[in-house]
Amino acid sequence: MMGKVALDLGGKTALVTGGGSGIGLAIAELLAGSGASVAVLDRNETAVNETLKGLKGDGHLGLEADVAREQDIQKALVRCQERWAHLDILVINAGINGVWCPLGELETAEWDQTMAVNLRGTFLTLKLALPLLRQRGGSVSVVASINGTRMFNNYGATAYACSKAAQVAFAKMTALELAPDRIRVNVVCPGAIDTNIDQSTTMRNLEKIALPPKKGYVPLTKGKAGTAEQVAQVIGFLASDAAAHITGTEIYVDGAQSLLGT
Ligand code: NAI
Repeated sequence: MMGKVALDLGGKTALVTGGGSGIGLAIAELLAGSGASVAVLDRNETAVNETLKGLKGDGHLGLEADVAREQDIQKALVRCQERWAHLDILVINAGINGVWCPLGELETAEWDQTMAVNLRGTFLTLKLALPLLRQRGGSVSVVASINGTRMFNNYGATAYACSKAAQVAFAKMTALELAPDRIRVNVVCPGAIDTNIDQSTTMRNLEKIALPPKKGYVPLTKGKAGTAEQVAQVIGFLASDAAAHITGTEIYVDGAQSLLGT
C-alpha cells in the first residue's frame, strides 16, 4: 500500500469547493480523516450528500452552491460563520473543462462559462471567505492545472488553459497581499487525474486544429528548422538600445515547437 502523510488537523475548519467529486472529494476525505471539520460545497446536491456520508468524524457541513454565483457563495459562507465563526483551510477546487474547440468556433457564452466557474469562482470564493480566514489566519489552496501553466498542446482548451493560468497569477497576487494576515495561498497544478471531469467537457472539431505529434516538429514552418540568423536577429535586438528596458526576460525562438511539446 502507498504510504500517506499523517496529518493532524484536529480543531481546524475547512471549506472545499467542488467537494462532490474527484479531487475535491478526495481532499474532503483527507481533511476529515485528519480531524478537520469540513464544509463540502458543490453545485450538485446529491454529490454533496454522498460525500458527507463518507466523511470520518462528525460536525461536517454540506453546502449546495454554484461558485460562479456571488449570492450562493455569500449564503454558504454565512452558514460556515454560523457554525464555526472562523475558517482555517480553504480549498478552491471547483472547476470545469468546458468547451474545447477551434477558437473561431468557440461561442462567447462558452468562453464566459469556463471563466465564470474557474476564475470568477476562484475570486468570489477567496474574496468572500476573507473575513472568516482573517480570524485566525489560514491556508488557501487553489487547484489549477498543468494546462495553461506548463502545457499548451491540449488543442482547443484555450478558455480552460487561460482560466488555469490566471488562477496561478491570482494565487501569487493574493499570497503577497494576504501574508500580513497570516493567510498562506498556494496553487497546485495536477496533470491527468482519474475523476469525473470528462462530464464537464465538450469537445468539438478538434481534428481540424490538432497537429501531428511528431518529435521535433516546428508548427510555424510545417516542420522546417529555424536558422541561426533568426536567433542572431533577436540577439542583435537585445544588444541594441531598442531593448534598453528589457531584462530578465526569456524569448523563445522556436516557431512554437516547445508549445507543441515535441
Ligand atoms: P470532477 O468533475 O470530478 O469534480 C468537480 C466537482 O466540481 C464536481 O462535483 C462538480 O459538480 C463541481 N462543480 C463544477 N462546477 C461547479 C460550480 N459552478 N459550482 C460548484 N461546484 C461545481 O473534476 P475534478 O477532476 O475533480 O476537478 C477538480 C479541479 O481539478 C478542477 O478545478 C479541475 O480543473 C482541476 N484539474 C483536474 C484535472 C484532471 O485531470 N481531472 C487535471 C488538472 C486540474
